Formats: sequence, C-alpha cells, structure tokens
Amino acid sequence: MSETIKAPKGLAGVIVDTTEISKVIPELSKLIYRGYLVDELVEKCDSDQVAYLMLHGELPTDHQLAHFVSKEKEYRSISDGLLKSIKLYPKKAHPMDILQTAISYLGMEDDRLWDDDHDTNYDKFLRMYAAIPTIIAAGYRHSIGEDFITPDPSLSRAANFFNMCFGEVPADGIVKAFDVSLILYAEHSFNASTFTTRVITSTTSDMYSAIAGGVGALKGPLHGGANEQVMYMLQEVGSPDQAKAWMEDKLAKKAKVMGFGHRVYRKGDSRVPAMKKAMHDVAELTGQKDWAKISDILEKTMVDAKGIHPNLDFPAGPAYYMMGFPIDLFTPIFVISRISGWAAHVMEQRANNRIIRPLSEYVGHELREI
Ligand SMILES: CC(C)(COP(=O)(O)OP(=O)(O)OC[C@H]1O[C@@H](n2cnc3c(N)ncnc32)[C@H](O)[C@@H]1OP(=O)(O)O)[C@@H](O)C(=O)NCCC(=O)NCCS
Repeated sequence: MSETIKAPKGLAGVIVDTTEISKVIPELSKLIYRGYLVDELVEKCDSDQVAYLMLHGELPTDHQLAHFVSKEKEYRSISDGLLKSIKLYPKKAHPMDILQTAISYLGMEDDRLWDDDHDTNYDKFLRMYAAIPTIIAAGYRHSIGEDFITPDPSLSRAANFFNMCFGEVPADGIVKAFDVSLILYAEHSFNASTFTTRVITSTTSDMYSAIAGGVGALKGPLHGGANEQVMYMLQEVGSPDQAKAWMEDKLAKKAKVMGFGHRVYRKGDSRVPAMKKAMHDVAELTGQKDWAKISDILEKTMVDAKGIHPNLDFPAGPAYYMMGFPIDLFTPIFVISRISGWAAHVMEQRANNRIIRPLSEYVGHELREI
C-alpha cells in the first residue's frame, strides 16, 4: 500500500476520483453537465433530454428521444405486489423511507438483480426513472386515504406526476417550472448521496442497492432534506413583514439557516437564478406571492449580513409548496430528478472500478486487558 494521507474532516477540498458527468465551477457560480452549461439546458431542453444526456453523454436526436420517452412510459406501472406493500407501510412513514424500501422492492422483483453489464444496468435505470414518480404518488395517495391513480401514457413524465398525485394537471407554466427544477436537481458531482451510490457500486453490489443508498443519504437535512426544512422555516416566518427581524434574530443566535450555504459554492449556487425565476413564475401563476416575498427578504438579509448565499433548495422548497405538494414530498421529488445523475455515476464507477475503502485513525483506548 502507498503512503497514507490524512484527509480533512468531511473530505472538504479532497478530489477522490475523476468524472465525465458534471463539473461545478464555484469561482464562476456555474455548473456543466457533460460539457453543457446548465443555464443553456434549462433554456433549450426538457428534463427527459437532460436525463438522456446524463446517461449517454450526448443530447438525444428526435428519434433517440422518442425511444427513450416511449420506454419511460412503458415502465411507469408498478406491480400489484409493490402497490400492496406500499399500503402496508405505516401511514406516518416519511415518503423518503417509503421510496427507499420500494426501490429495494423493485430490485427484489428484478430477475437480473446481479447482472451488471452496461445494457442491463441502463435498463434498470429506465425502470427506476419511470417507476419512482409512480411510487411517490402511490405513497402520497395512500397517506391521504385516496385511491391510487394509474399512470397516463398520454402525459409527459412531469405532467403525469401531477396527475398521479392530484388527479389533474396544472397550467403549462406550473408544469414547466417543475420540469426546470428536475433539470437543476439532476446532477451535482460528488455530493454525499452521489458518493454514497459510488461507494455501494464499488463493492459490486447491485444498482437498486446503490440508488436506495443514495435515497438514504439524500434524506438528511444537510443535503436534500433542506428543501423541506426551508418551507417549514418560511411557514415559521409567516409573513413578509416578519422576515427581516426573523433572520436577524437567527443570525444573532448564530443559528444555521436552512437553504443557505454550500460546501463547494461560496459566491452563490449556479442553479439558484433559474430556480428563483421558476419560483417567482409559480408565485405569479398561483397568486401566492407572499412566499416569494418572504424568500427575497430572507435572502437579502442573509447576504447583506453574512455574505452567505442561498442554495437550490431555497427557491425549490416554496416553488413545490405553491405547486400544491405537501412538504414531505419535496425531497422525494428531488429523487425524481437525481435518479439520472446517480445512475450515470453508478455506470461510470462500474466501468472503472476499485473498491472505495478509506482508512481511519484510531483514537480510542490504548491496548488494555479484560
Ligand atoms: C451546506 C452546508 C452543510 C455546507 O457545510 P460546510 O461546507 O461544512 O460549511 P460550514 O458549516 O463550514 O460553513 C462555513 C461558515 O458559514 C456558516 N454557515 C454555513 N451555512 C450556514 C447557514 N445555512 N446558516 C448560517 N450560517 C451558515 C457556518 O456557520 C460557518 O461559519 P463560521 O466559519 O463562523 O463557523 C451548510 O452550509 C449547511 O448546513 N447549510 C444548511 C443546510 C442546507 O441548506 N443544505 C443544502 C445544501 S445544497
């Protein structure tokens, strides 16, 4: 073994491997997926095209996209067994726990569980890409005591998710804002959940296990769970005229404010401008402008006082709320998007694998006798 290196706490600033999937450029507050600026992808593409890009490394032709979308539609349904099992989960279960268990269930149903050649793994990705929105919607319908709504192949993946949750599709502008969030949440280099999927893949475990592990890591409030915490925070603030004083109080108490700060970005999260615009569009379309006003005041107060900028979860939380989603569905929605980034990393890790196995420095008891 080569010499040992002591990494800083939290692996901050440590490059652990190479990737061709995405690049965060903190000094410019920019993000690139497979060579394309995310801002440009938001302008010119939809979330299915971006998911295809993530897995294939190139944007699809019309023919390739049509094939990708038709496979996604074909794979949306979930089995009766899975649906029944979702109905047996505790009603109070968090949707991320339901999702994690249901993804493991998809693996148990798949005869190819241990086949990990590229084409089989790609097909497993498509299965999860299509079924995850159905699982989340089924869990939601169960939690409110309503019947499951079967997927509608005449609808896009985003519109179908609204329909499976609420039995109707909102105005195009709302679906568009949701789709923008799916593009922005799709991938973000070696964050905690993505790294988790790579660690699990490095043991040559199966793809469903890697994705279920990613869900577990994403749930934490310091990671994806922040989009839910942001909305609880906005509800606590209550109204725009309380916002400035609320933030000043938190800052005086040196409290951590959800939706602000980032390990990599220090001058602002590249994804925030596009999501902020989408959030304001939703506020305009739904007439719920106070949430947008509260957000703007909190952001200005934090940036002026501490120079700490909001991250993507800050505008995404209120946007999802104004779209009508219950707060505990926000992090599962993140998974509807991030499944493509995770799957691309699983494939990349598998193609050039070495088990990820760091060392630890023992600081426990000296050797002693019983
Ligand atoms: C994202 C996060 C985990 C990054 O953590 P990190 O890289 O370890 O950053 P640090 O905790 O070292 O923060 C550096 C400084 O900024 C402050 N800071 C960072 N995020 C802050 C926040 N959300 N609210 C208040 N202060 C914050 C820290 O207190 C620290 O100040 P200090 O140097 O005076 O101690 C952290 O910013 C955070 O907890 N944010 C809230 C949760 C969140 O929104 N997560 C979603 C991430 S996309």
